[in-house]
Amino acid sequence: MSTDASTMPVRAMLVLGTRPEAIKLAPLARAMAAGTQFEPVVVTTGQHREMLHQMLGMLGIDVRIALDVMRSRQRLSDLTARLVRELGEVLRAQRPDLVVVQGDTTTALAGALAAFYEKIPVAHVEAGLRTGVMDNPFPEELNRTLIGRIARWHFAPTATAARHLTDEGVAEEQVFTTGNTVIDNLLWVLAEGTGSSVFRTAAKRILVTLHRRENQGERMRGMGRALTRLAARGDVEIVLPLHKSPAVRDVLLPELEGHRGITLVEPLGYLDFAATLAECDLVLTDSGGIQEEAPSLSKPALVLRTTTERPEAVEAGAARLIGTDPEAIVSSAEQLLDDPVEYRKMASAGNPFGDGRAAARILAQLAEDFAADVPVGLTASGPYSTA
Ligand code: UD1
Ligand code: UDP
Repeated sequence: MSTDASTMPVRAMLVLGTRPEAIKLAPLARAMAAGTQFEPVVVTTGQHREMLHQMLGMLGIDVRIALDVMRSRQRLSDLTARLVRELGEVLRAQRPDLVVVQGDTTTALAGALAAFYEKIPVAHVEAGLRTGVMDNPFPEELNRTLIGRIARWHFAPTATAARHLTDEGVAEEQVFTTGNTVIDNLLWVLAEGTGSSVFRTAAKRILVTLHRRENQGERMRGMGRALTRLAARGDVEIVLPLHKSPAVRDVLLPELEGHRGITLVEPLGYLDFAATLAECDLVLTDSGGIQEEAPSLSKPALVLRTTTERPEAVEAGAARLIGTDPEAIVSSAEQLLDDPVEYRKMASAGNPFGDGRAAARILAQLAEDFAADVPVGLTASGPYSTA
């Protein structure tokens, strides 16, 4: 149903459950709350607990409804079932004009699916990223692809992501290239300037994060060994904020705890993480968001994965996809630590992910569509037929 924008704000339900969703939806939540055209109804699913809660206040996200679905060592099927059921209840009670989901998490997929079941149109932020390998990243590649079948608006961060969607048959008028909201947030946070870096020494500073499901187990153990070899050089300081996942901690703690040159810390709040990233020399990560942030701060990123849905940074020369083999990790890192020419080449490659105005573009498009005479439906061509 369309809403008369001159009299009533559009009720937009923002569904988020994990750390990166909070970071990447925060600019939308803040912009909606600051204006009069939208009423943001933020629902946190609690897919993450500590790692989500530590973000919300500092990012200016005002939560309306908080679910608490997280269980320790949760299985994907249980998590998905709980999310769809509980979000369905929330949607039936709230009846928002649209649901906004972000990225490729289980929360995002469940939010889109529950909205579809309730015949509420879905806006997908960070749409169209693809590795082309359905089980890598697992299960995120499938999640994001499925949301691409459900969404009414596809907000693609880059032209490449937009093209993936139109190649899959999504109508061009439903796809919008906006930049990534992560850059909006990073610029906002750095302007606040209140975070503090974890690095303590003048050694070469390496910031590491590891958490992906497809890397857990033996592969992650090998990555841990590569880090101890780098630390053994004696001229580096490695900082690793440990993901809360027990599957990550089971492997990395025995491998890295107490090792000289390696500092393990609890997950950092975003202000401190941004400050730590700004102070590092080199990033080693399997994270999606950090692949986008590092080039914005001129930090070379080595991506410890076999695929990436963010090839733009690799193509620009700001990141390298080096895989998960410990030898390759050590030699690629050492090349950058020891060769200033190679280092400068990567550090100066630039950021292909946006200009910090993605949220404004997304809201402008939604406002235009809700203000139009044509009712907003589940598809661009008209309302969903209930006949
Ligand atoms: C999820 C996303 C992944 C994203 C990552 C961000 C899915 C399928 N995966 O993966 O795309 O990159 O979040 O970090 O949605 N846990 C805690 N406390 C917390 C958070 C998690 O104890 O604050 C535990 C959970 O109980 C669970 C494990 O960590 O057992 C993994 O969490 P889960 O959300 O299932 O997957 P992630 O690996 O975090
Ligand atoms: N991040 C953070 N504190 C940390 C580690 C990461 O704030 O200790 C931020 C980081 O800046 C990025 C986001 O979390 O914006 C990435 O989250 P994560 O790696 O968990 O998920 P992904 O991006 O891989 O989905």
